[in-house]
Amino acid sequence: MKVKASAPSNIALIKYMGKSNVLGNLATNPSISYTLPHLCSHVELEVVSESSDRWEALPGEQYYNFEMSEKGRAKFLNHLQMLKDYFSLSVNLVVRSANQFPSDCGIASSASSFAALTQAVYELARMSQGDARLKAKKASTAELARLSRKGSGSSCRSFFGPFCEWDGDKIEALSYGVELDQLHHMVVLSSSSRKLVSSSEAHVRVKSSLSFENREQRTVERLKECKKALSDKNWPELFETCWAEFWDMHSLFETSRPSFGYMEPSSLKVLAFIKEVWRTEGTGPVVTMDAGPNVHLLFKNSDGNLAQKLKKQLEVDYKVLSSFDSLKSQKFIEKR
Ligand code: PMV
Repeated sequence: MKVKASAPSNIALIKYMGKSNVLGNLATNPSISYTLPHLCSHVELEVVSESSDRWEALPGEQYYNFEMSEKGRAKFLNHLQMLKDYFSLSVNLVVRSANQFPSDCGIASSASSFAALTQAVYELARMSQGDARLKAKKASTAELARLSRKGSGSSCRSFFGPFCEWDGDKIEALSYGVELDQLHHMVVLSSSSRKLVSSSEAHVRVKSSLSFENREQRTVERLKECKKALSDKNWPELFETCWAEFWDMHSLFETSRPSFGYMEPSSLKVLAFIKEVWRTEGTGPVVTMDAGPNVHLLFKNSDGNLAQKLKKQLEVDYKVLSSFDSLKSQKFIEKR
């Protein structure tokens, strides 16, 4: 028996950084993200008569090749075990996964792949008999999101869109009309160097920063600002809020003991370029950065021409992945 599921990635506007409980990934602060439907991960589960579960890459020309590290595999298979226990599934599985986007593109695939794995196990439980089927029947999307969070915190937001708010056990969709619900997304790959500090490590280290003490308060305040700017369709205000927020997270990194960081000279050049766009055009993209050197840009639906123009300019110096030209992703969307 085989089941397949897919889930999108998401990019946080108000960031989840720091855990109040490492087990179960409880965040110290609320967050808001925008779901990226053009950037999906896929998982296939096959019931096998083997003595344990194992992972392998999902083959298919629509996917990008990728290899999971030993640590990554162990984390993925642990999550699978937790889900099997939850749904009372006693079968062993080959879990195959792949992404619709390149792994070096600055998009953490953990959110989309853990969400897809959670969804796939749920589908398997639904098709099974007995307790598993009963458990699956009762599971809501919010419950699946909470289960997924245990494997990767940010993956819980991939169950909802176009925007998702995660605050403790509350994980819910937010929507603001076509202009804001259908944003154009671009990630500027300003560096391809390897990440020296993982996001799991960052969640731990930020607690040593003196600025961490008021972090929760600041995010609660900024989350309100963010939702207000979205409701008022106040794009410049949204830009300012998101700009302040990613700098806040990156300054936590730089003020940790020992300090660390992800900004590179090229990231700063891209940020300065975007600031200049806002000054000269009177508008521009909302900007954010995750735990990495790459710069994410979000354009209002009506700013498609501006997005195309900036993409061309940025492509002179950088690799850019955008919702316009992610061919493999588009193939997937057509297929659905
Ligand atoms: O879900 P994790 O443990 O990979 O943490 C993600 C943290 C950030 O990507 C930096 C911010 C966020 O809210 O997605």
